[in-house]
Amino acid sequence: MHLPAYVRCPSCRGELDAELVCRRCGRRYAVAEGIPRLLDRDAPGLAAKLREIDGWPALAREQGWYEADDRIDAALPFLNSELGWTDRSWGATEHGFRLLLERYVRRGDRVLEIGAAKSWASQHLVPLGCEYVACDLVTDPVIGLGRGAFFESRVGPYLRVQADGERLPFADASFDVAFCVATLHHALDLGAMVRELARVVRRSGVVVALNEGTRAPYVSGLNPEQEREKELGINEHVHTLWAYLWTFVRAGLRPVRLEYAEGPAELARRRIAGKLLRVGYLPATLWALNAYPYAGMSVYARRL
Ligand SMILES: C[S@@+](CC[C@H](N)C(=O)[O-])C[C@H]1O[C@@H](n2cnc3c(N)ncnc32)[C@H](O)[C@@H]1O
Ligand SMILES: [Zn+2]
Repeated sequence: MHLPAYVRCPSCRGELDAELVCRRCGRRYAVAEGIPRLLDRDAPGLAAKLREIDGWPALAREQGWYEADDRIDAALPFLNSELGWTDRSWGATEHGFRLLLERYVRRGDRVLEIGAAKSWASQHLVPLGCEYVACDLVTDPVIGLGRGAFFESRVGPYLRVQADGERLPFADASFDVAFCVATLHHALDLGAMVRELARVVRRSGVVVALNEGTRAPYVSGLNPEQEREKELGINEHVHTLWAYLWTFVRAGLRPVRLEYAEGPAELARRRIAGKLLRVGYLPATLWALNAYPYAGMSVYARRL
């Protein structure tokens, strides 16, 4: 399989030949269903990540969303505005993703998404003339990267790679934009995942994390709503806003925008946050993310 030169061995970052053998360390990688399998078998925590691969389809079956519905997938992530859903989490993704498209992505950019699951972002980025690359651990044909075949039939081909966001198989500074949706909190090592996002974007490139669950500093990191996920092997964590911001700064990223994930319209409905909005969006957002026990944030940053 011919891969762009910026795709590298996840273990040593050597170049890969046409057979996906690393020219530097000799490790071999496979391709299946058109998806190169670029996991570093020696990475710390790989066993826990492999468990997560089976956890997602199991969870989806239990919760009744293990299905490939063309009408729903074609509207992703705009399920509330296009299909009249009232789902708070999709509403948050919709708000954050729209800002990403409007303010941070430019026509022709090379854009990486980690934790892309079905890779629905392709249907907005490829028509913009972007070179979109989707990564996830999960390659399942219904809820993982395998479902990308449906989006490819709509917008044309793009690269899907099985990869670990904590050990990306890409050369330094390969992308203009790197983003993820509800993925950082699955990292076993949050710092490693954010450092990898920072490493693979060019200088002053954009790193964005959308719709990450946060907790107020005064509540426990054990969110009871994540119990079932954890039993199924999904790696769940819940960090504070401050932990995320500090991780970004330490990775050499400058946060330039912070959003209450569901956006200002949702804050306007709240009693105190609604009043604080009159002072400004930032004070209202900081209040919400520090006072509400569990909430969601999106952060947009630039590489220094
Ligand atoms: C909550 S889902 C979000 C999926 C997708 N971004 C969306 O919003 O529709 C989190 C995704 O992150 C992926 N993930 C978890 N840990 C990962 C890792 N270390 N590297 C890459 N992807 C990971 C999971 O497989 C899952 O598809
Ligand atoms: Zn190598």
